[in-house]
Amino acid sequence: MTRAKVTVVGAGFVGATTAQRIAEKELADVVLVDVVEGLPQGKGLDLAESSSLEQFDVSVLGTNSYTDAEDSDVVVVTAGLARKPGMSRDDLLFKNAEIVSGIVGEITRHAPRAILIMVTNPLDAMTYLGWKKSGFPPAQVIGMAGVLDSARYSYFIAQEIGVSPKDVRSMVLGGHGDSMVPVPRYSTVNGIPITQLISRERIEAINDRTRNGGAEIVTLLKTGSAFYAPSAAVAAMVEAVLLDTGRVLPCCAYLTGQYGLQDIYCGVPVKLGRDGVQKVVELELTPEESASLRKSAQDVRENVSKLAGKGLV
Ligand code: 2OP
Repeated sequence: MTRAKVTVVGAGFVGATTAQRIAEKELADVVLVDVVEGLPQGKGLDLAESSSLEQFDVSVLGTNSYTDAEDSDVVVVTAGLARKPGMSRDDLLFKNAEIVSGIVGEITRHAPRAILIMVTNPLDAMTYLGWKKSGFPPAQVIGMAGVLDSARYSYFIAQEIGVSPKDVRSMVLGGHGDSMVPVPRYSTVNGIPITQLISRERIEAINDRTRNGGAEIVTLLKTGSAFYAPSAAVAAMVEAVLLDTGRVLPCCAYLTGQYGLQDIYCGVPVKLGRDGVQKVVELELTPEESASLRKSAQDVRENVSKLAGKGLV
């Protein structure tokens, strides 16, 4: 059996750390692609040189050429600009749309069977764009956000109660933005809903901190954004796909009427396997939870409409 192959596009902090996690877990041979000459080669070689110490047997290649991505099983797209001072969210949207369109064009040519995992922000709009530009079936294109947002939520819950994060499972629905929807009723400590363990006021505070999770890290770092938790989230998705585990994880997936939403990419729990999204899992929601999800989906639609307005999708 030949080993699986994962291409990570973008050799910044998120991309390089994702490559490291995939290599150290021996999930696949890794190709790290970036436009900057020397950057993917340097990080790829550095990572490969740790293989005897970390005891991994997969290959790591850094490159500027998409021909090295040929026949990848999974492609992770992390490339794009981070928001800089003075740059609006819309500036970021249009700039990253250009970058992502170019990348997806290359991936479609060189790795048409790959499961495409989008990571670039604004996440939900970039995932929609990736799907449109690739022409892939919707199940083959997935966005990483819910796994990250719910990992943050789980950590805050564990801290609040003083239990191991290993025992916490949590659910965050909706777009990866200010209006994402943490769902306490579906968040548990080994099956015990947190609504029985934490006061309403404290749950509200933890929900707010989760919604603000990315910004909290940006404020601390000042010159960058999170990468440890994001790369761990991508690695969890890559593992579910390559090992065909059928794990149920919150991901940005294409909806065709589930949750009353249609023709949109948005965060919902899905079953992940070798062919990507195998099933969208529909949770029963209260009217308030449904309304919050619809509002979040509306925010995603606004970004996609802006792209459509410029002919980008
Ligand atoms: C995050 O949530 C910036 O989307 C990135 O950390």
